[in-house]
Amino acid sequence: MRKVNQICCIGAGYVGGPTMAVIAKQCPEIKVNVVDINQKRIDQWNGENLDELPIYEPGLKEIIGETRGRNLFFSSDVDTAIDNAELIFISVNTPTKTYGKGKGQASDLKYIELCARNIAKVAKSDKIVVEKSTLPVRTAEAIKSILDNTGNDVNFEILSNPEFLAEGTAVEDLLSADRVLIGGAETESGREARNILSWVYEHWLPKERILQTNVWSSELSKLVANAFLAQRVSSINSISALCEKTDANIAEVSRAIGFDSRIGPKFLSSSVGFGGSCFQKDILNLVYIAKSFGLNEVADYWEQVIIMNDYQKKRFADNIVSTLYNTVSGKKIAFYGWAFKKDTNDTRESAAIYVADLLLDEQAEITVYDPKVNAETIYKDLDYLNSRDPEENRKLLTVVSDPMEAAKDAHAVAILTEWDEFKTLDWNSIYNDMLKPAFLFDGRRILDKEHMEEIGFKFYKIGQS
Ligand code: NAD
Ligand code: UGA
Repeated sequence: MRKVNQICCIGAGYVGGPTMAVIAKQCPEIKVNVVDINQKRIDQWNGENLDELPIYEPGLKEIIGETRGRNLFFSSDVDTAIDNAELIFISVNTPTKTYGKGKGQASDLKYIELCARNIAKVAKSDKIVVEKSTLPVRTAEAIKSILDNTGNDVNFEILSNPEFLAEGTAVEDLLSADRVLIGGAETESGREARNILSWVYEHWLPKERILQTNVWSSELSKLVANAFLAQRVSSINSISALCEKTDANIAEVSRAIGFDSRIGPKFLSSSVGFGGSCFQKDILNLVYIAKSFGLNEVADYWEQVIIMNDYQKKRFADNIVSTLYNTVSGKKIAFYGWAFKKDTNDTRESAAIYVADLLLDEQAEITVYDPKVNAETIYKDLDYLNSRDPEENRKLLTVVSDPMEAAKDAHAVAILTEWDEFKTLDWNSIYNDMLKPAFLFDGRRILDKEHMEEIGFKFYKIGQS
């Protein structure tokens, strides 16, 4: 088997950064170069202060502290890293297309193609190219075609190795992955390439957890895994609406069905709606692929997962408006949390953005507190929607660094992210500081209804009447 001395990862984002940090930790004999065209991001990865890394993940700064400068390097010199590596991971973003054919559904593969062209231009020796980004089924074919037709007559083996980590638990997920999936060609060189990549993971994971498949199964499995996970959240959220009408309690329903070992307890927490950069993007991509093969019923089936998620966010915002006597105009509403889930500073597709947008349409005055998300990100998220002028967003929404300040003189507090610290806030003081009646909307089901009502709140919790 060929030896791997150097790995290059193109893309120093939420996947590239943590994944390569863990590989560097577990494979000290391999030099890992993570490269990105975003110089600011690279500078942040190389910064002195480990509390200011571009990505917040529990346990990550410790690993960066141990490996950076030893066998983990961050740089914007993409070409040199490609040239030196035997194994190249492509870990760049694959957002939903915002233009042209497939707009709003298909994945935009322009960054992937740029990487492939760059590898082809630079590579002077055989390379194994690994798709780490989430890609539509059969993308490897396009990558292979670009590499073979524009390259310097070296041999490229393409593998699919989708990433299954979840943000907030990335390090833990990588260190004890349920499985690693490696898809490759059913040829001798394809099998050799798969085994080389498998060897990297075997440094810390048992071989039985490293699954090998053909490339297409691997590419498709990643989309399907995300679609199944999101489908569970939409399913339980649809039932949360029914619980609110019937005196059933969504936590009790989740528990009751989750005890069935065929269903299982995970991903049954009702919420204000799923967010994150991938669930929606990957389902839309699945829908687009199904449609492009004329499988309209399959497309409609999966699209419903997104429709239900949009409904859940809107339902939460509508409930705030109707509960506050049908108007929130000029009323201060405190948002606790902006990130799409706890323990991450990532806000992409966060439910908070859409709930805020709906309330701003009603002229609410929102004050946001999130322990890890800064004002610049919050305004960027809102401006991106283009619902109103950026000045209007800044006039109507304020970002503060203290939860007590956020709630002062507010008509309502809405919990949008399940940060642990929200459970132990001084809810008595918050209540005292608010206008009365003081409304509390728990979009993450982290607070106890009885206790909050005892304090005096008019309390509303998703999935419970
Ligand atoms: P990200 O936006 O955080 O990072 C991508 C990085 O790639 C950016 O820093 C960007 O500057 C860089 N980049 C783009 N084009 C480049 C080029 N030509 N050369 C060098 N660098 C380039 O994205 P992410 O969240 O890390 O996601 C990456 C991929 O992984 C996506 O396909 C996503 O679907 C998939 N994924 C993400 C997660 C997650 O939790 N975020 C989990 C599993 C899979
Ligand atoms: C998800 C998958 O869990 C990962 O396996 C996958 O690699 C990743 O997408 C990806 O491809 O990007 P992530 O989006 O980081 O990971 O986080 P999740 O824990 O899956 O949460 C997604 C959203 O669903 C969050 O907004 C979360 O609050 C919400 N959620 C999750 C619920 O509302 N209820 C649940 O029971 C679980």
